Amino acid sequence: MSDKATDHQAWGLPGVLDFFAERRGTGAEVYPSEWFFLKDRLKEGLSILDIGCAQGGFAQVIAERIKNFCYVGADVNAEMIARARTRLPQHTFIHVREGDFSALGDEKFDLVLALGILHLHETWRETLAAAWARTGGAMIFDLREWSGLTIADRSQSYMTMDFHRNDNTHKAIRLPYILLNSDEARQIVFETCIGARTINHHDYAHAPSATAVTPAKLVTMNTWCAER
Ligand SMILES: C[S@@+](CC[C@H](N)C(=O)[O-])C[C@H]1O[C@@H](n2cnc3c(N)ncnc32)[C@H](O)[C@@H]1O
Repeated sequence: MSDKATDHQAWGLPGVLDFFAERRGTGAEVYPSEWFFLKDRLKEGLSILDIGCAQGGFAQVIAERIKNFCYVGADVNAEMIARARTRLPQHTFIHVREGDFSALGDEKFDLVLALGILHLHETWRETLAAAWARTGGAMIFDLREWSGLTIADRSQSYMTMDFHRNDNTHKAIRLPYILLNSDEARQIVFETCIGARTINHHDYAHAPSATAVTPAKLVTMNTWCAER
């Protein structure tokens, strides 16, 4: 089982690296709830920070829509970052430690993405606050929510790292799969995004990730957009 000290390494397992080399790099693989906010914000000349960028899939997705943009990807896994730099040398990729985004400096970006990561680490509130601090325009992020009490304990709700490999080594590694009570999530978002001009969200009910072991049969996949 993984613990906090090794969570960043879990993202570097072979099956996980392969998965993000092949997936989430085209518009067809962006979820409708993500496009809901993304589509209207992609303008030429945009600066973008992608927190939890994996191998820069969103830079490829965005390049399908606009040509002139500045993209910086940040990730806790060094191998993801190394692969991203090789794949997309025209962009900037920065290796960060969980909760320490000092390597990014104080620059603000027109668009900040934190997609597919917040429900998978316990210090997600700090990550969200750091993302908001670097948001000059809009921040798009997603949470997993439900009507029950918040579950942040990885012994009760977890995701294995078995990304379609059917590999027991990957299956044994667990990250938290954080389910937030929806009212609580809303309160935290509003408390974190201080000074936001608008805060909107777009959600739908869906079965949890196939690799998740969690008490909820259905979760609310909630994509949020906060704008200054
Ligand atoms: C499920 S993938 C999502 C990748 C991409 N954002 C997407 O939506 O397709 C999660 C990525 O976030 C990274 N990650 C996990 N926790 C992180 C954290 N606290 N700060 C930055 N990156 C993190 C992982 O290394 C992994 O590459």
